[in-house]
Parts: sequence; C-alpha cells; structure tokens
Amino acid sequence: MGKLRDSPGVILCVVGARPNYMKMAPLLRAFRAHSALPPAVLVHTGQHYDPMLNDRLFEDLALPRPDINLEVGSGTHALQSAEVMRRFEPVVDEHRPCCVVVVGDVNSTLACSLVAAKKGVPVAHVEAGLRSFDRAMPEEINRILTDQISDLLYTTERSAHHNLAREGIPAERMHFAGNVMIDSLLFHRNRAAPAAQTLARAGKQGFGAGGYGVVTLHRPSNVDEPEALRESLCILRAVSERLPLVCALHPRTMARIEAFGFSTILDTPRLAVLPPQGYLEMLGLMAGATLVLTDSGGMQEETTALSVPCLTMRENTERPITVEQGTNTLVGRDRALILRLADEILAAGGKRGRAPELWDGRAAERIAAHVAGWLATRPVSIHG
Ligand code: UD1
Repeated sequence: MGKLRDSPGVILCVVGARPNYMKMAPLLRAFRAHSALPPAVLVHTGQHYDPMLNDRLFEDLALPRPDINLEVGSGTHALQSAEVMRRFEPVVDEHRPCCVVVVGDVNSTLACSLVAAKKGVPVAHVEAGLRSFDRAMPEEINRILTDQISDLLYTTERSAHHNLAREGIPAERMHFAGNVMIDSLLFHRNRAAPAAQTLARAGKQGFGAGGYGVVTLHRPSNVDEPEALRESLCILRAVSERLPLVCALHPRTMARIEAFGFSTILDTPRLAVLPPQGYLEMLGLMAGATLVLTDSGGMQEETTALSVPCLTMRENTERPITVEQGTNTLVGRDRALILRLADEILAAGGKRGRAPELWDGRAAERIAAHVAGWLATRPVSIHG
C-alpha cells in the first residue's frame, strides 16, 4: 500500500535516443511553464551518446542538459534494456515521482516504463498507439508493451485509438493530443539552417543547387543484412542519376557499409554522404528538398508537416495518417516503383497532402494541461 506524503513528488521525463529529443523538448517546456505541475526532472538513459546523435540535438532544440544521465551506451537489446532498468530503478526510488513520462518507441521507453509500472508509479506514454503490425521491428514490441503498462496514453492520430482498443486498453486512458514532434518542427522552423550553408560546411559547396533529395537509412531491416543494404544503396545510386542526393547516415549504417565493403556503391559525385546532422540542419535540408527517401519514423511525419514528398523504404508504417493525408508513400525496396515515383515527383511535384488534425504546434501544452488535471484528481500517495 502507498503511504501519504505532503510533497507532490516530481515528474520524471525520460529520453534515450535521438528521436526522443524533439518530442521531449516541447513537453519539458510545457511542464515547466505550467504552474500547477510539480518540477520536471529530465533523465537521459545514455542509449545515444555520440555528439552528432546527442549533444548537437540538445543544443539545437534548446533542451536543457539532463538532470541525470544513466550512461548506459550501446549493447544487445537485452543488455541495453536491462542496464537501463538497473540504473533507472534507484532514480525512481530516490525521486519518488508522481509520474514518469516516456516518449516514442525506443528501448529506453519500454525499459523505464517497466521500472515505473512495477513500482506503482503512473506512466504517461506520449505517441501511444502507433502500430506497424510488424513484430520483427524492435520498436513495435516496445510500443505494444509500453502502452499496456501506461496509465495515460497520448496519441498523435485517431487510428491509434482503434489499435489500443483492439489490445484491450480502456478508452478513458487514451487522449488524442496531437503531435509533439510537430510542435518542435513548427517552433524551430524559422531557425532552420539553409541547406546550401549545411552543404558548404560539409565541404559540398554548390551540391544540389538545382534541386536535391534527402536520404536517411538506419533500420535493421535495410542495413543489417548485406543483400538488403546492397540493394538499398544501389537504389540510392539509381535515384541519384535523376536527382542529386544528400545522405545523412547513422553511425550504424556507416559501420555496416564499411564492414560489408560497400563504400564504392556510394562513390559518385551525385551522392553527398554526410554524418548525422543537427536538428536545424535536417530541418533545413528537408524543407528545401524535392523529395525525401527514408526509413525513419519521425521523418515520415516531418515531411508531411513540411509538405515535401516522402518515399518510405519500408513495407509498413505505424503512421498511416502520413500516407492517407500527408505526403508519404511506402515503397519498400521496390527499385522500379521508387524510380517511377521519383520521376513523377520530378515532373509534377508529387503528393502535397495536408496537415493532420491537431498537428498544430500545441500538443505539449495540451498534454501538460491534461497531466495537471489528472494529477489533481489523484490521492497523494507514493509507493512504500
Ligand atoms: C535507435 C532506436 C530506433 C531509432 C533510432 C534513431 C531502438 C530499438 N531503436 O536505433 O527506434 O529510430 O535509435 O537513431 O531503441 N551507435 C553509435 N553511437 C550512438 C548510439 C549508437 O555509434 O550514440 C551505434 C552503435 O554501434 C550501436 C548501434 O548504433 O550498437 C545501434 O544503436 P541503438 O541505440 O541500439 O539503436 P539505433 O539503431 O540507434
């Protein structure tokens, strides 16, 4: 049984990996600005640690330095998740939070939710209910399990409610809040780094001056196996013959390209291979692109918000609204389809789409207000 306490505890906000930062930045701002909410404490698990995947994004997003860094680093899924849990548990014991807020679907999201839920601490999951229906994706497992043990499920699109209902989650736990990742995009849009400047800084002065595409690729399904990676790279090379491509590659992908000896496939003046870029650089590159070719989750949404055609190199998406209403098309590794769509985009501009409901830059404010109202209705107690 819980014991009564007189302080309202804190809200523990968890980030672990790159796609978490742009979701947590607006939430943290909104929590800290809300007078009825207890202090928000930022915990970084350390899943991502490279300066270009980490520090740089914190700066760009004006995300405060984490109050606590668990420094778990890389590992197998089991090792990484276990290490996050082992190191997060004493943080929960020490801070006795009234709520743990997790975002997205990375390993840190699930690991911290599990620690909190087992200690009877309410979990709020932001970006709940998205489903690719592909359990070969580690993120899908993280999503399903996090949602099952969350008390507050904030969704970005209405399809998420059907997914959650199908998994037996009661409607009163679900709250359609909008998209915090798009809060960040709209907040920073005017500060985006011009693409020409980013390319010049990377030593690619004048690259793509007549138009370019942007590529990111890091999903295990595209980069871990030699055949899949070779085919993905050959597709990029073929598209680049029509449109120069700027490829901002994840360290995981770069490591595989080198290990499999595939560097020569990218060796053409029509492809500019860059390291991972900062948030403002990526925003500028995407905003100025003729098309985006990616397997990222977040970029499917960002391109929809920016009205830039996106060809997603996956067989499925957990973000169907980007296909139904936005600019996204699923293309897998279907080379003929990708080339045909690239030609169509070059000829006629491609899908333009429209902004989905509540992708309006105010999702974090709505979530903060809802959390405040919800906490106010709860008995003030903590686990013993
Ligand atoms: C993780 C997320 C994925 C997200 C992606 C964004 C999971 C299961 N996956 O994938 O959903 O789309 O982040 O980037 O949580 N590495 C570095 N430097 C780092 C971090 C990782 O070089 O700072 C390398 C290491 O070799 C590591 C590998 O990347 O083993 C994979 O890192 P990991 O965090 O396990 O998964 P990501 O592929 O980054």
